[in-house]
This record gives sequence, C-alpha cells and structure tokens, in this order.
Amino acid sequence: MSNTHTHNEHTCVVGLGWGDEGKGKVVDLLCPHYDFVVRFNGGANAGHTVYVGDEKFALHLLPSGVLHADKQAVVGSGVVVDPIALVDEIEMLSQRGIDIDGRLHISDRAHVVLAYHKTEDLLSESAAGDSGQIGTTSRGIGPCYADKMRRTSAIRMSDLRNWDLLSSRVRAVADMKRRTLSAMSGQNVAIDAEAILSELKPCVERIRPLIGDTMLRLHDASMDGKRFLFEGANGSLLDIDHGTYPYVTSSGTTANNVGNGSGVPARSIANVLGVTKSYATRVGHGPFVTELDNAAGQRIREVGHEYGTTTGRPRRCGWFDAVATTYSVRFGGVTEIALMHLDTLSGFETVGLCTGYRLDGQALRTPPSDCSTLERVEPVFEFVKGWSEDLRSVDSYERLPETARNYIQRIESLVGAPVTIISVGPERTQTIVRNTRVVSAREEAGT
Ligand code: IMP
Repeated sequence: MSNTHTHNEHTCVVGLGWGDEGKGKVVDLLCPHYDFVVRFNGGANAGHTVYVGDEKFALHLLPSGVLHADKQAVVGSGVVVDPIALVDEIEMLSQRGIDIDGRLHISDRAHVVLAYHKTEDLLSESAAGDSGQIGTTSRGIGPCYADKMRRTSAIRMSDLRNWDLLSSRVRAVADMKRRTLSAMSGQNVAIDAEAILSELKPCVERIRPLIGDTMLRLHDASMDGKRFLFEGANGSLLDIDHGTYPYVTSSGTTANNVGNGSGVPARSIANVLGVTKSYATRVGHGPFVTELDNAAGQRIREVGHEYGTTTGRPRRCGWFDAVATTYSVRFGGVTEIALMHLDTLSGFETVGLCTGYRLDGQALRTPPSDCSTLERVEPVFEFVKGWSEDLRSVDSYERLPETARNYIQRIESLVGAPVTIISVGPERTQTIVRNTRVVSAREEAGT
C-alpha cells in the first residue's frame, strides 16, 4: 500500500512579498476545488480580508477557507495559537451565521500565545530602540516561537486538556517571565497569572473539543483522496530563514514549511501559487528597495486602500520588484502567480518595474543577505506604458488593455513563472483565471 499523497494535487498559496498580497481572496476563490484548508505557520499576525457578497470578513488566525461551510479547516502544528483571539474569531463567525463545530481542527502540537507574550513583544521592541525595532504586529508571535525553541517555557495546545496541570504551568512560566522581563526592561513588569488564567478558562472550555492529532486526520483524508489547500500566512520576504532578516516574522512562510507546520510532507504539494500585488507594499520596518516616498506611492496607498488589516497601519508602497519576487519564486518553488490589484494601477501614464539591483556600481543577481547592504541597493527601474481604462469589470485576459497585458507579460518573463490569476477588484467575480493547475488539476488527474 502506498503511503504517498502526490496524486491529490495539493496546493499551497503563499505571498511573494512582505504580506498583504491578497491571499485571502485567492484562497476564497480556490476553495470550491479543495476539501481541506490548512494553516501551517504564523498566528494572529496574519490579516486575510475576504469579501463574500457585500460582507467583508477579516480573519487573523483561522484559515480564510473556513468561510466555506462545507470545508474542513485545520490549524496545524506550526501555528502559534492565541486562545482568546481564536475564540473571538469563532464567535464573530458564529454571530454572522458561520458555524465551525465539527469542521475546525486544531493541532495538539501547536503552541499557545498568552498575554505575557504580547507584553514581551512590546517590551523587546521598546528595548531595541527606534533604530533596532522590527515593527512587529504586537501579537506575541516572536516571543511564542522563542519559547517553542527554548522548550522549558513553552505551552502547547495539548496542555489545554488538563486544567490543573495547565494552571500550575502558566503560574510557573508567568513568574519566570515577570523576573526576566523586569530585568530586561529595568521596570517592575506586572504579569498576573491569575488574571491570565481567569480570562483563559472559558476559552479553554470552548476550544478543547477542537484539539486533536491533525497530522493523522490529514494523512487519513489524503489517503482517502481529499485535496488540501495550504494557506501560507505573512509573506515569503518575511520568512525567518530567507526573508529580509531581522525584519521578518518568526516562522517559515513558504511551501517549504508545509511539512513541519502541518505534518503533510512538502513533496506532496503539486502546485505552489505565489500571490503578489501589481506593485509592492510593506508594513513595519526594514529595507524596501522600490519604495516610493512621493505622490505615486501616496496614490497607490489611497487607491489600493493600503492600510493594515491587523494593525490599521498605513502600508509603505512602491513599484513592483522583479528581483525580490524572482527570489521568492526561486526559494519557494512557486509554479504559478496570482497578480492582484491590477485595477489599482489604472491611470498612471507609465508603470514602473524594478528589473535589477545595483550596489556600488555593480549589478546584483539576487538580494544581499544583510539588511544594511540591502538598504544601500539602488533599483534599476524600467517604465512601461500605463493604461487609463477602469479594469474593474474586465472579465477576460483578452479584454484587458494591450498595455496591461504587456505589463503582465513583462512580469512573467522577468520572474520566470506564468501569471494564471489576475485580480481587478476585491470581489470574487472581479478575477480573471487562465491556464491554471490550481483549479482544474483534480479533474485532469481524474481523482
Ligand atoms: P511579527 O510577525 O508580529 O513578529 O512581525 C514581524 C514583521 O512581520 C513586522 O514587520 C510585521 O509588520 C510583519 N508581518 C507579520 N505578519 C504580517 C502580515 O500578515 N502582513 C504584513 N506584515 C506582516
């Protein structure tokens, strides 16, 4: 009997930039072609906005595919779960008529984010000073992953099964955090274990039935022919290993991490759909080679509504960076591209693309590893003719203005992957799909 899953044509959706690429909309669109939606990294730092009809949903922790009532949703072992944020999200969905019971499964190996992680996140940012700050989402993500690696101060979802053991563990870790954070900050940091526990108690009751061995569930389902959609959170350039370190998040954000973060081997993923906007954005600190600190950047921000879903912060905006995107495509094994927000660029006389990096007069093949060097890199821009038409009701590739098609073709040739999904507005219907494996492969594979 075979123990492989490759025939199912599982797909992973990842952002190719620094997050906020529009993955939520893409996942929502692909969902009908899959049986399970799976998160494998990050936590409530992610912000997925999905429009269903006139309704807008903002999800942070749950896979955005959970909005589809007939899908099974999994929060895998690589995710860091804030039980309070989780219950808030479950309640928000329930109030809007979406019930998750019986179809939301949380890995017992996932790690738990508690209030002291958020305190630690804020304190380590202020201790780093203005120049050293990462500009985190303050959701306690980094400190929770740090505890996971440290092991002695970690709490996992499986620990929520036994309240007495959990309480004594939370008290011990809170005491340790109080001492180390007070020493680090030079202040008397109050961490109230009893307050943490009393806020936690009703959440634990609510979540406990959802906790289980999700790896086994996924393996059984895969052997049963079910098809999975993995939702990468954050973005490839925020990857802990290959991103713009240290201005990154604390998890592996690409399809390379699906194996560890879900227990489903990464080699069983047939398609990796990389999502990118038609321009670039970044929130938080860190180098941004194509950033536009001018009227063009301001216009992209306003027309594209570039304000954070998780924190409301204005996003930094710039032209499309083909060097950074090619890098993400390469290390993440991307097979197809979804190009979002093409409509936002309507009305620019010319549209910029960064086709190369130069440092001290030399051309670079790929982004340098250290941020101080990356900060000094100069972009080589190419400007293509823009388009004035409103694209929001264009429903096929052929009906796009020729200049917009030229722009897409230029991106494909620079980045080396086909653009198979083009988004021209926030609604599901405002999407052009062509020659993709991510929506048709199951039928082609005959499974
Ligand atoms: P953290 O993940 O909260 O530790 O934040 C680390 C960096 O990643 C900060 O620059 C955040 O703004 C950024 N970041 C984390 N998640 C996302 C996301 O989903 N979208 C955009 N930026 C993110």
